[in-house]
Amino acid sequence: MLNATVQQALNDQIQKEFHSAYIYLSMSAYFEAENLTGAASWMRKQAGEEQEHALKIFDFILDRGGHVALQAISQPAAEYASSLAVFEDAYAHERKVTQSIHDLYALALRENDYPTQVMLQWFIDEQVEEEKTSSAIMAQLKMVGDSPAALLMIDRQLAARAGG
Ligand code: FEO
Repeated sequence: MLNATVQQALNDQIQKEFHSAYIYLSMSAYFEAENLTGAASWMRKQAGEEQEHALKIFDFILDRGGHVALQAISQPAAEYASSLAVFEDAYAHERKVTQSIHDLYALALRENDYPTQVMLQWFIDEQVEEEKTSSAIMAQLKMVGDSPAALLMIDRQLAARAGG
């Protein structure tokens, strides 16, 4: 049985994951409008992964006999200044999500909730990957500056991302 505080924090995390999906979808729309279809596709796949993250927690709450209470999702940014600005935002956002997962894990430790700790280990690993990936792309975009040819090369590289 889920304790009420942990359950609330898990429901909050579902909201954050769906909010992440929304943010990445908005970023995908930005890239599509800029004709950077590789980056647009990368962001769309990322949005799909975020929905999977939300559903992992959704299923976990239900498996524990808990209550899922979905929350409102706030509007993401609809305008971005540049490709670099998008990935700077993505990296900053992932760092916030990492903090949120770590806070959730600390709560599960305090509450002696072992199944939640085990479930969150997957998310802890995933956040290491997500920060690494967005920070690497951000660094490459910083490197290429205003060169359209280099930007197109990065876009092609992003098009190769596997996944749905
Ligand atoms: Fe679900 Fe990008 O963290």
